[in-house]
Amino acid sequence: MRARSRDRLVYLAAHPFLFTVLAATRHRPTVRLGGTLLVHDRQAYVHALTRLTLDRTAEGTTGGAVTALTSGAALFDQQGQSHRTSRRTSADPLSAPGVEAMRPTWTNLMARALSPLAEGAELDLVPLAAEIAGITALAILAATSPGPAPVSSSSAPTTNHLPARPLCPAAPTEGPPSHSASAQEPSAERHRTTAERHNDTGPRASGAAVGAGGTRDSRGPTTDRAGRDLRAGPADDARRLAEAARAAAAATAREHLPGLFRRRARDEARLAAARLTALVAPDGGEHAGLHAMLAVAAINTTVAALPRAAAWSADDRLWDAARRDPAALADELLRVIAPTPLLPRAAAGDGELPPGGPVHAGDRLMLIARHAAGAHRSGPDPARPAPPQVARLVFGVGPHACPGARLARIQLADWLAALAPYRPVVTRARPDRRSALPGWRSLTVRAGDTDSAAERRAGSGRRGEA
Ligand code: HEM
Repeated sequence: MRARSRDRLVYLAAHPFLFTVLAATRHRPTVRLGGTLLVHDRQAYVHALTRLTLDRTAEGTTGGAVTALTSGAALFDQQGQSHRTSRRTSADPLSAPGVEAMRPTWTNLMARALSPLAEGAELDLVPLAAEIAGITALAILAATSPGPAPVSSSSAPTTNHLPARPLCPAAPTEGPPSHSASAQEPSAERHRTTAERHNDTGPRASGAAVGAGGTRDSRGPTTDRAGRDLRAGPADDARRLAEAARAAAAATAREHLPGLFRRRARDEARLAAARLTALVAPDGGEHAGLHAMLAVAAINTTVAALPRAAAWSADDRLWDAARRDPAALADELLRVIAPTPLLPRAAAGDGELPPGGPVHAGDRLMLIARHAAGAHRSGPDPARPAPPQVARLVFGVGPHACPGARLARIQLADWLAALAPYRPVVTRARPDRRSALPGWRSLTVRAGDTDSAAERRAGSGRRGEA
């Protein structure tokens, strides 16, 4: 199957009507449908995010969802000084040295979890992506936490803070930065501690490898293929955190869909948010909401992006490119899969949207990141990549641009580099109809024609002949 055809399934499965409308109107810079403006054009997208005054708490926007379900002050719903202050709180682990220090956390897990491919095993990459997302979020949280590492064995809901929102989930709830002594430790030291914690104990194995053996219970795998217990330790923490963050984002997304059961959806969203907050901050505290938001943002984008990028690379046979220059391929894949394809915003005042025409106060703006980045026009081409200022539009632009972009780009490059030697091919793929972001529910791969696989096959052929 061609990569683009397969990838289209993740949109069609979850939002067939919306996807069809967006595809049908994308040749026009903007399209007005009553009080809603679909913004496809690159210049108009940038203008909307940088020049228009946006109502950060309007219903139906990312910030609005945060405000409705939390005590507010959650990045997406903030502006001005309070927004800058909240950004600083999480800047450290997402800085260049912060990301570099966290990197072994996921590279070691990737290497270990993908190794069964060499033995001919089939792996579901979605649970592995969730585990990678979970340990990364734990590392981010530990680096922004003054206290002990988040995620305890208690999962009782204690608060009703909620970060999250459908198409780019994320948002911290409570604002001021930490002034504690540990928050002021040198960042590398804090990150090293986190990475070491994961690597020393070591995620015991990835749930992704269980497709080739091992046992499961209702929460997922309980042992790996070698019979090792997966139910405790950092790997288990990572999976529980990922599960809670995905559930919170998905429930919030459902709450915003039209239908008869919105009240029930709202209750479910609040409960899912409470569960997540209880995991990331069992004792509450001023950063409980911020931590929950960071977990939602990091986890849902990662679980969407890594499997989609792997499927695209497998279907378009991009593994040589992944070996040559994984960073260039990662940037192109992010442009084309655009993990947060649509940013719902609202205009706070009248304005102009060149080249799209007038904007009125209260208009809903559906900013189509994937069209602004040209995802529909050209496939990933690491030899002739789109200019960075175009490719990075998938991370937004302006004061609210994604602070996790550096981490996401480096992590995806590491993922592609870890997969490339196996030249995986997709054997089964099931889209996720309920997730907040378009993505795969499961994506099973096996190694393709690596040198060693070809040799093994040749060997067993010769044995058969004898
Ligand atoms: C492929 C991965 C990712 C994509 C495509 C992505 C995309 C985006 C987009 C489009 C926005 C809105 C920008 C705007 O309004 O101008 C955003 C905001 C945000 N993202 Fe990401 N993101 C990704 C990964 C991450 C990660 C790993 C984190 C880790 C913490 C993160 C944290 C955030 C936060 C906190 C915001 C809110 C920023 C603000 O309002 O000031 N994201 N992201």
